[in-house]
Amino acid sequence: MAVAPLPSPVTPALTLHPLYTVPVAEFRWADPELNRALREAILARQSQDPGVRVSNRGGWHSRKDFQDWQEPCARELRQRVLAALNRLLLELDPRLDGRHLSGWRMVAWANVSPKGAANAPHQHSSHWSGVYYVDCGEASQREELGGELVFENDFGVPVEILSHPDPYRTDRRFRPEAGKLYLFPSSLFHRVEPYGGDALRMSIAFDLSHPGFARPDRTESRDNWRWKNFRGPMRALRWLQERLGI
Ligand SMILES: [Fe+2]
Repeated sequence: MAVAPLPSPVTPALTLHPLYTVPVAEFRWADPELNRALREAILARQSQDPGVRVSNRGGWHSRKDFQDWQEPCARELRQRVLAALNRLLLELDPRLDGRHLSGWRMVAWANVSPKGAANAPHQHSSHWSGVYYVDCGEASQREELGGELVFENDFGVPVEILSHPDPYRTDRRFRPEAGKLYLFPSSLFHRVEPYGGDALRMSIAFDLSHPGFARPDRTESRDNWRWKNFRGPMRALRWLQERLGI
């Protein structure tokens, strides 16, 4: 049903304030040799270890120990990730100095995804998170094979669903490519679309945290409240999470 617009004297002038931006950084290295070495290192670990299950649906998720892998390719990638993080941090705030740029704690893990693997929506508990693509199987050439990294818009702005029933259509999708690194705030919800290729898809995910940064979200305030009032149960919960690797 068409509704006539309100007469102009009734409609005040509109000033729209599009608030906030979410920084998602993309870096790219053209270094097939590094990716070949990482691929071999990952497959060697996978053959010795059943891995863990976290947000992954199918596929192999290594223990969260990539930060300790001693292979030269793993050391090289860790250095590159920290250099990329510094580049991003200085872009966002040029006042930062050595206190902020060094001393980052990294926890990282490798993922191997065969056909059908996906990652359910989730967020991470650190400050910055990232993913580096070692091998994208066939998905970089064929869009229909899926495997996209999707960042979810959870601001809760109402979206029209009568004509477009997908309420997630404001999400931003990125197509993985070998050699690409994405860095994003750990609080940003994301998922990985089901991958439909036959060749294995491999990535390494990172969590980066630093005592000089805070994560100003309500979850953290709630956690602080819980820690203050229920220290014993919170310690037990953390112990259990560490044991389960989540
Ligand atoms: Fe993730």
